[in-house]
Amino acid sequence: MLEWDQKLSVGVENIDLQHRYFIDLINRLSIELAGQDKDYQAKLIDELSGYTRQHFTAEENLMYKLGYPNLKEHCESHQNLLEKLHGQIGLYLLGMLEGDEIIGYLSTWLLQHILKEDRQLGQFIAEVKIK
Ligand SMILES: [Fe+2]
Repeated sequence: MLEWDQKLSVGVENIDLQHRYFIDLINRLSIELAGQDKDYQAKLIDELSGYTRQHFTAEENLMYKLGYPNLKEHCESHQNLLEKLHGQIGLYLLGMLEGDEIIGYLSTWLLQHILKEDRQLGQFIAEVKIK
């Protein structure tokens, strides 16, 4: 189970709230994948896919608006994850990949991404606000 704590804060309330929701969604999916309700599992996976995209778009729009210098690299990182995630979801729906693998990959990616790229963004936002 993933748990949000203060160490994961990027210092921007809106982004932190989205990350908390993201983590909660991953945890709910993780629990549900251990059960038998395949239809509900598919619905949560659909929600996960949609939320990932929506959250990335929100961050990217913010970076664009603020003239963030690492916008391109950060967007590429999001894009790579989306491609990988959609590939994995496709394999899962074909019964060729265990749901746990999606959860494991996404959890690791998200924590590393928050701690590095998103915190860099948070730092930049803090600097822009001070000026
Ligand atoms: Fe990000």
